[in-house]
Amino acid sequence: MNEHEGKTAITFGVFDLLHFGHFELFRRIRELVGPTGKVYALLQIDEMVEKYKPGYKNVYDFATRQKMIETLRSVDKAIPYDVVGVEAVKDLDFNLLVVGPEHTNERFQKLFKWCAENGKEVVMLPRTQGISTTRLKEIIRDL
Ligand code: CTP
Repeated sequence: MNEHEGKTAITFGVFDLLHFGHFELFRRIRELVGPTGKVYALLQIDEMVEKYKPGYKNVYDFATRQKMIETLRSVDKAIPYDVVGVEAVKDLDFNLLVVGPEHTNERFQKLFKWCAENGKEVVMLPRTQGISTTRLKEIIRDL
């Protein structure tokens, strides 16, 4: 049996213009926790995306991103967050924090430490190569 079977996993992201890399991420998380586990997508609110990525504008607003992500069979729920950190997760009942290889900044480091101290496991999954929201925008712009 998979060691994560039945657990509750959370993962952070903006998930704008939902694409194959996102689908693969959630497929892999679902594979980890199995059908009896829970998968929660923590979705960054619009105001904070704009604050942390100056000049960057989402195609879809929060409510639309939330609806889109919740149509995925592999996702149970999309939950809003403002910034990555303990505040965003401390009221959630979860066992597993799934991150991408780019999630290395100080906020994540502090969160990893909190996870270690609070019995939450951190699992890093590789990104799907060749696709990102940014890349998708470039491809469409250059068509
Ligand atoms: N992700 C992935 N494979 C990709 C793109 C993203 O596994 N090809 C994962 C990231 O590692 C992260 C999550 O999806 O855990 C959310 O990433 P997000 O920043 O919302 O998507 P990107 O496509 O990377 O967006 P951007 O180009 O705006 O950074």
